[in-house]
Amino acid sequence: VKDALGGVQSVLVLGGRSELALATVRSLDVRPGGRVLLAGRDTVALEATANDLGRDLGAGVTVEVAGWDATESAGHAAFVGQAAAKLGGDIDLVLVAAGVLGDQDRSETDPAYAATVLDANFTGVAAALLAVAGQVRTQGHGTLVVFSSVAGLRARRANFVYGASKAGLDAFAEGLSAALAPAGGRVITVRPGFVKGRMTAGMTAAPFATEPEAVGKAVAAAVSGRRDVVYVPGILQAVFGVMRVLPRAVFRKLPG
Ligand SMILES: NC(=O)c1ccc[n+]([C@@H]2O[C@H](COP(=O)([O-])OP(=O)(O)OC[C@H]3O[C@@H](n4cnc5c(N)ncnc54)[C@H](OP(=O)(O)O)[C@@H]3O)[C@@H](O)[C@H]2O)c1
Repeated sequence: VKDALGGVQSVLVLGGRSELALATVRSLDVRPGGRVLLAGRDTVALEATANDLGRDLGAGVTVEVAGWDATESAGHAAFVGQAAAKLGGDIDLVLVAAGVLGDQDRSETDPAYAATVLDANFTGVAAALLAVAGQVRTQGHGTLVVFSSVAGLRARRANFVYGASKAGLDAFAEGLSAALAPAGGRVITVRPGFVKGRMTAGMTAAPFATEPEAVGKAVAAAVSGRRDVVYVPGILQAVFGVMRVLPRAVFRKLPG
């Protein structure tokens, strides 16, 4: 992930318009000569995002875009190979940020819709992680950042479809971390709480709500440091340590 001076060289963002991922890239030390590839569904919108990001990262850093849909799992392996080629051969850092909050009420009456939420957040992203893992094994190095959520630590009545998808992704990241370590790969699991931004627009902020920039800084610190599980804000580690062991009857009475 780092050049001789500690900078990042090549970054693939899966979910290229994610506020949390973009805040992370802005907090990373991407050196001149570095390359960033923003991958997502809407390549026209991504071009504008790439222009803004390129301006912020400064001359000498190349920001490109590529079409990619998390739910099109059959194409993930070929896509990762093409992404590596675009990034100069190796992918040092992959930010896996694709995801949707989904509409819980609709999920409960429309199972096919619920499946699209589960696919975008878990099935498709997990398949993409396996494709990236293949690339890491070939390279012998690489860091994967997986955007999980505290919502996956104990599913709540109000958003259990999303919570379950993140629980699956979180468990997957834990196992993949163990699988890739002998091959030189590293997996960082990020568990943000409520982040004020696009995904939560119009919602009442939860306790300990944070901002995308705080998430970006915490993730960048983890990439250059040693922490492999990151809560943002950090206090949520203790809060959810308690949440997970509360008796069910008590947990259900909590607001939200
Ligand atoms: N915001 C929060 O409060 C919060 C808290 C905890 C965890 N997280 C997790 O952190 C990650 C990033 O969240 P964020 O706040 O940055 O959200 P965001 O700004 O809404 O970004 C989500 C990204 O996922 C992309 N995406 C959705 N479905 C996709 C699909 N099928 N294929 C490809 N890309 C797809 C979106 O693409 P489009 O631009 O095309 O829609 C968007 O770029 C998500 O996994 C989210 O669940 C967020």
